[in-house]
Amino acid sequence: MREDLQELLFSEEQIQARVKQMGEQIAKDYQGENPIAVCVLKGAVLFMADLIRYMDIPLEIDFIATSSYGASTKSSGVVRILKDLDRSVEDRHVLIVEDIVDSGLTLSYLRDSLLRRNALSVKIATAFDKPDGRTVDITPDYSGFVVPNRFIVGYGLDYAERYRNLPYVGVLKPAVYEKN
Ligand code: PRP
Ligand code: MN
Ligand code: MG
Repeated sequence: MREDLQELLFSEEQIQARVKQMGEQIAKDYQGENPIAVCVLKGAVLFMADLIRYMDIPLEIDFIATSSYGASTKSSGVVRILKDLDRSVEDRHVLIVEDIVDSGLTLSYLRDSLLRRNALSVKIATAFDKPDGRTVDITPDYSGFVVPNRFIVGYGLDYAERYRNLPYVGVLKPAVYEKN
């Protein structure tokens, strides 16, 4: 699969080192609380699994599935909830765990939804942030790496459901998606 990449952006070692820092910082900030870490499926599944290992505090996990990209490199502009949380977030501190913030639509939609359900607080941790992609105003509380405005895959990020299992992140060769 490596030959489908034009460029490697972050190695497995770089990602793991940064995620460890983030987890330890987030745990410090939630000291004395019992937050719910909400993994945004499917993209955030690798980041979530790594991040919470570095958070040495009591916490709960839950999962929500959204989709806005489908089998395209462009957001449809509409966020759909494909699977909702199992439990209530009322009066709970919620940490949304995302793989990437691009347009910001997914996160602004999710944050509003959780606040409407009376979460005590909603914070956002993202592995990657693409500020140049933003169409709505949203800033993650914790961000691993700022990425350029290119279509990247790996570490949970897919193109048409592929490449999520790469432990590193890179830029996909345009030839791969221009075929479709
Ligand atoms: C991707 C990514 C984020 C979102 C970011 O998810 O995992 O959740 O898009 O883009 P945005 O800031 O423009 O909303 P996608 O909808 O592709 O679903 P997936 O996680 O299952 O791949
Ligand atoms: Mn996603
Ligand atoms: Mg996707």
